[in-house]
Parts: sequence; structure tokens; C-alpha cells
Amino acid sequence: MCGIVGYIGFREAWPIVLKGLKRLEYRGYDSAGIALIDDQNLNIYKKAGKVKELEDFAAEKNLSGSIGMGHTRWATHGAPSDRNSHPHTSQDGQLSIIHNGIIENYATLKEELISRGHSFNSDTDTEVLIHLIEDIYKNNEVDLSEAVRLALKEVTGAYAIVVMDEKNPNQLIAARKGSPMVIGVGQGEYFIASDATPIVEYTKNVIYLNDNEIAFLKRDELEIKHLDNVVQTPYIQELELKLEMLEKGGYEHFMLKEIYEQPRSIRDCMRGRIYPEEGKVQLGGLKEFTDKLKNIDRIIIVACGTSWHAGLVGEYLIEEYARIPVEVEYASEFRYRNPIITEKDVVIAISQSGETADTMAAIEMAKEKGATIFGICNVVGASIPRITHAGVYTHAGPEIGVASTKAFTAQVTVLTLMAFYMAQQKGTITNSKLTELLTELDCIPDKIHAALQSNDIIKEVSAKIKDASNCLFLGRGSGFPVALEGALKLKEISYIHAEGYPAAEMKHGPIALIDEEMPVVFIATKNSSYEKVISNIQEVKARKGQVIAIVTEGDVEVKKMVDYCIEIPDASEAFLPLLATIPLQLLSYHIAVMRGCNVDQPRNLAKSVTVE
Ligand code: M6R
Repeated sequence: MCGIVGYIGFREAWPIVLKGLKRLEYRGYDSAGIALIDDQNLNIYKKAGKVKELEDFAAEKNLSGSIGMGHTRWATHGAPSDRNSHPHTSQDGQLSIIHNGIIENYATLKEELISRGHSFNSDTDTEVLIHLIEDIYKNNEVDLSEAVRLALKEVTGAYAIVVMDEKNPNQLIAARKGSPMVIGVGQGEYFIASDATPIVEYTKNVIYLNDNEIAFLKRDELEIKHLDNVVQTPYIQELELKLEMLEKGGYEHFMLKEIYEQPRSIRDCMRGRIYPEEGKVQLGGLKEFTDKLKNIDRIIIVACGTSWHAGLVGEYLIEEYARIPVEVEYASEFRYRNPIITEKDVVIAISQSGETADTMAAIEMAKEKGATIFGICNVVGASIPRITHAGVYTHAGPEIGVASTKAFTAQVTVLTLMAFYMAQQKGTITNSKLTELLTELDCIPDKIHAALQSNDIIKEVSAKIKDASNCLFLGRGSGFPVALEGALKLKEISYIHAEGYPAAEMKHGPIALIDEEMPVVFIATKNSSYEKVISNIQEVKARKGQVIAIVTEGDVEVKKMVDYCIEIPDASEAFLPLLATIPLQLLSYHIAVMRGCNVDQPRNLAKSVTVE
């Protein structure tokens, strides 16, 4: 939630910060603002709405300055408005701040500050923090760096902040706790951002700031300290990110590009990990834990949203092949309900962004109780991979569309590999069966490519159901999490109310909703529950529901009874979720476009949910 960018160097800061904010807009788009210092004057421009509105608003203004910082907001404290937009300033206007996160004790701090004569211009927690810094700075005879450090020691909650001082245009101060922050290291210049995307075109050398660290950046000098005042040695890493990964590459939307990238992203995810001829899976990240995997009693998967749906697919696969009991938990519920966890448990945390607050809290809790934590994450260097014991990156590449697509299929691919890896270690699968499955898995990217060829038919179906107010998605077995994911995609980008259900559960309630206006999407591919799904389709047809069925190529039986059919290539049940998801992504994409919705930045959402 919220994106932050900072620059100090020899170039004009405005274009760098503005472009950076556009790259980070997926993190929140309620308002945007930029602060610059030009000849000892602090100029702040901020506007409710998207970064484009800020750009238009500031077009004719003085935008010079080689030090600057910007913010794109996902509102928590205070409505999206100009006055609540960041940057915020101190009482005297000398200091300014941008902030991603939540200051939990802001109300108490605010009361104290008011009693000492401070007054506030916004409803935000962030403004309280800059006033606190100012208060300490003025009343304690310390320099600004020390004032920031002391203020942060009084704060509870999560933050990534950047502070600028009008009187010192040769310094940016940045700090993090619980919210991500990357520093780009250039020649005579430094960059700061919530992730590496605003930085990659200027430098490949980055430092991921750790929790409880403060960075003091001058044009030619960087010092990092722990909040306890101990100087840290920065670890500079080289980015693997490429600029072209961040562009739309000719597609109308990032979401469509990311849907079409899936043959490639799944191939990247499997690269170097599967050896079909030998019937072997290799997961370097888990190697150290091979013995542990042979003896675990239980796996708990924690995640949110789409990643949670991937976890449900993982449950089917791990139980089927590795014969280990799996529980799948919403991280937000798990963290607050004192679950029974022992040292024998393995917790798998799944997250595209690697920054989801609830998932991080669930990890910390399970870690305290002695569990071994594996992460499945897409963003390299994010917080989750750094707090887990081991893990497997999905390598899907940057996912910019707020609705998750290629990250989901990559998570499912990793879980498939993990299930096979554990089965291999535990001896619950024969080498010939594993060889057969891996040979088929190796062809899944081509089958996804084939599934994408149904785009024109899907577009036609989308046109028929785009005006529906409600939609049901039904599936059985691992088709159930696919149905959940299909429903989530539709509701988040087209704002049509949609529900995913196990097909057999329909008759226990949702069947009451069915009439001729109600589209019902069935995952009706040829697998073990095919016949049963056919019965469920008949139940819907008997009540005049409109049925859209995702079927296996060449199917004739389902075709006879439904309104619209979308074919996917035939595959073993283990790989059904990877294929059946594709048409559902395209369906929600086209419906959202036809309804005039903002596909890449749906209302009220943000890509990275760093608040609970
Ligand atoms: O980054 P994470 O995978 O931890 O994010 C979890 C959810 O916030 C995310 O999947 C969300 O549900 C997406 N909008 C789904 O498209």
C-alpha cells in the first residue's frame, strides 16, 4: 500500500520521481504528491486522484530541484483528498515527509503534540510523525538525523519514510520497519523506492534496507544505522530486473500482457527444477530441509486472496502425491486465533508481493512457535523471502496489473513442484509415475499457449454476459479453487458480484439465486468428477440458468447441454488448475474492458497490501 520514491543527485528530480510514481501506482492510486527543494525553497505539489492528475496540475509550475521525493497513496487514515495527500510538513513547514505504512499510536502522539501547541492540516497518521520529529529536533538540541531516530523509537506500527529538510538540500533521510524500501546506488546520486521498478533504468546496484534501519543519503555519501544507533555495513546487490519487463509491450493493458506471458512465466518457473527424463525434481531452496520433509506431520499453508486460492490447489496436490496432511489458512484469521503449531510443522507462506502484512504476521507467529517456514514469493528480495527459513521463487517476472494472473499460475506451478519434490523425498510416488507427470508438466506451457487461442470465443461469450449483476463459478476437486479464483477475478476488475462454490454445494443455498439472468460458469473438464459436474450442470439448466462451461477439447457431452463452451487442452487432473484458469482470466478481462472498467487499477484495491 502506497508507493514512495526519492532522489538526490545531479539530475532534475521531478521527472525521475514522477516516472517512479507511475511505476509504483499499482501500490495505491488515491492521491499523489511530490516535494522538491530548489534554491533552499521547498515546493510541494499534491493532488487527489492518479499520478496523471498530479502531472497535469503541476505542468506549468516550478519543477526544478535535484533533490525530491514523491508518494502515491492508498488511503488508510483520512479520505482520499488533496489535504490528506503526502508529502506532509512540520508545523513550521521546514520538514516534509512521505510514508508508507501505519503509525498505530498516532492518536496518543497527536494529543501530546496538540498539548504542546502543534496544529494539524490533515487527518493522517503521517503528519503526526513529521510533527513529532520536528518537536524532538527543536527541543532536544540534536541534529535532524538524530531527531528522526529518536522519533522512530517512539512510534509503533509499520513505516517506510523519507524525510527532507528545506534547510539542508544535500540530505535525504529514509527509514523502514515492516514496509519495503530499496536504495539505488548511482555515481554521485541515490534513489529510494518501495520496490526496484523506479530505479532499474538508472542503476542496477541496490541495497534492500532492513527493518529498523535508517539511511542518511547525501549526493556522494551513504550511511546506514540501526535504530539503536549502530552503524551497518550496506550490502549492495545487482538487480536482475529488466526495463522491458515493466512496459506494456504493445498490449492494451498490463493484465492482458501478463495473461499472455504465462507460457513463458511457467517455463521460467520450472527452469532448472524439473528433469523429466530422470523423473527428478530439484528445488535448491529446499535442499537443506530434505530430511525434515521426510518426517513432517503436517503442512499449514498461509496466504491471502489469490495466493490463498493457489494454496488450496497446493492442498490437493500435496495430499494426493506426498500424502502429508495440509491445512490452508487465511493469514489474517490464522494470526489472531492462537492456532496449535509445533516444531514438527512446516508452514508454507505464499505471496506474490512478499509484503502482505497479514501473511508476514502469520509467518512471525508460526516462527515464534517453532515451525519451519517456507516462502513462495514472486518479488525477489521482498520482505517475506527474508523472514522465512527457506523458499522457492516463482520467477513470473514483475506483475503490474493489480489483479493477479501469471503470479497465480506460477504459484500453482511451484506448489506442483513442491508436491512432487516431497513425494520424491518421502517415496510416495514411483519413479515411473513421476517421470510421466514431469514429462507432461514440461508440455504445460505449450498447452497454455493453446488455451489462449480461445480468446476470440471468450470475447464473444463475454459480450453475452457482460451486463449480468451476479455470476456463479462452480467446480469440484481442484476445479473448486479455480472457480474461487475465477469469481475473484471477475468481481475485482468488473465489479460484478461473483461467487465461487464447490459445484455440489450449490444445492445447499446458491441454487436459490439461479434464474435466466444468472450466468453460471462450470469447470467441466474430463477428470474424476466429470460425471458429477454434468449432473450439477443439469440442475442449473433445469432452473433456466445460462451455463458457460470450460471443457476438455473435443468434448461433446457437455456441449449439448450448455449455452457456451470454452475448450482447453486435455491434461491430467494434476494440471487442470493451470489450464482451466486461463479462460477465466480472459473472461473477466474482456467483461471488465466491455464495462469500461479500469482493468489494471481497479477501484479501492492495491497490489501490495501492507496494512492489516
Ligand atoms: O502479494 P500477495 O500475493 O500476498 O497478495 C495477496 C492478495 O492481496 C492478492 O492476491 C489479491 O487478492 C489480488 N488482488 C488478487 O488478484
